[in-house]
Amino acid sequence: MSPHYGSAGKASPDLVYPGPMRLSSRLPQGLEPNALSAALARRRAAGQAVLDLTVSNPTRCGFTYPETAIRAALAQPAVLAYDPDPLGTRSAREAVAAHHGHGLRAEDLLLTASTSEGYGLLFKLLGDPGDEVLVPSPAYPLFHWLARLEGLVARPVPSYFHERWHLDLGALEAAAGPRTQAVVVVNPNNPTGHFLSQAEWDGLTALCARRGLALLVDEVFADFALEPPNDRLATALADPAPPCPVFLLSGLSKVAALPQLKLGWIAVRGPDAAERLEALAFLADQYLSVSAPVQAAAGTLLALAPALRAQVQARLQANLATLDAALADHPHLARLPVEGGWSVLLRRPAVDADEVCALRLLEATGTLVHPGSFFDLPGDGHLVLSLLTPEADFRAGLRQIFPHL
Ligand SMILES: Cc1ncc(COP(=O)(O)O)c(C=O)c1O
Repeated sequence: MSPHYGSAGKASPDLVYPGPMRLSSRLPQGLEPNALSAALARRRAAGQAVLDLTVSNPTRCGFTYPETAIRAALAQPAVLAYDPDPLGTRSAREAVAAHHGHGLRAEDLLLTASTSEGYGLLFKLLGDPGDEVLVPSPAYPLFHWLARLEGLVARPVPSYFHERWHLDLGALEAAAGPRTQAVVVVNPNNPTGHFLSQAEWDGLTALCARRGLALLVDEVFADFALEPPNDRLATALADPAPPCPVFLLSGLSKVAALPQLKLGWIAVRGPDAAERLEALAFLADQYLSVSAPVQAAAGTLLALAPALRAQVQARLQANLATLDAALADHPHLARLPVEGGWSVLLRRPAVDADEVCALRLLEATGTLVHPGSFFDLPGDGHLVLSLLTPEADFRAGLRQIFPHL
């Protein structure tokens, strides 16, 4: 027994823990919520209603789920057996491969507990502490933390808007330094809805091949194409032999509108794909985080997914039409084109900072929108609305906020 402990195992009274516990510098150093989150929490605590135009959780959006079939899929005998495979069960990988098509095979896939976990595995695979990944911005804000928690730096590289969004391939090339290991793109992007064009894909894969970088392509929203142009790269899997390593991420969260079931995947293509998948399997083997029930159910859930996606697609289109009708009466407001995905960018005169505007709208009308600055949109004058919002709420929310913009 340690000399500092008495016979009852209690610490001696003169043994004092020295100061606050040190947390890793990978974590945020202050955990205070931002002004908008704090105002939202205050409002909810006071029992005041909130009209939420930012909802991205499909299980809270009034969709009709085939409950009996989902429950039955999760209640098969296989859910009682533990037979782990770091890649994921072959039957689940076959179902994911069939969902994607484009020659994808079960052998090209590794299952994860979510797309976010997939990023964690890939960042561990590709970088040493202090290395960088390039992320075209505006971007999904989680990348900053997902990279940082693995000791990496996510460096934003601004895309630009000229009639549609464009990757700035020159800026990406200029930003690639000795510590850069990968580029991360979302196709279509959250929140801009930008699908890569075929020309952007060709330029991006050539850049990554030239500079020895991996390319991570997040296609969680790829099934939700909305508006032209039609030169879109519908999926990175359309390229059977990219010149650089490509890791495609997706998952049930968006593909089947089932985020609670926690199933994602990574498809590996390009040079040395088999070796990279083997290294990923080594990483996944340390966690074995994908549950048996969701793997047993994957085939059925993916078979149910098209009907759920049809409901989501109808919602996105209906809300976009509602927005366009409302905008017709407010010529000082506009929206950007939505090539795909679940969000729309609303443009407004930048009379105040986006964050101030979002706070003002919440306080004056009880309606929650996201400021563009949350996603690194340049300057002010953009608000981000979720097209997944139940239609009556979306209509009511627009009616509330428009007089204040
Ligand atoms: C672009 C993007 N990638 C990944 C995710 C997270 O997906 P998952 O629930 O599979 O972790 C989201 C969630 O909104 C997202 O917007």
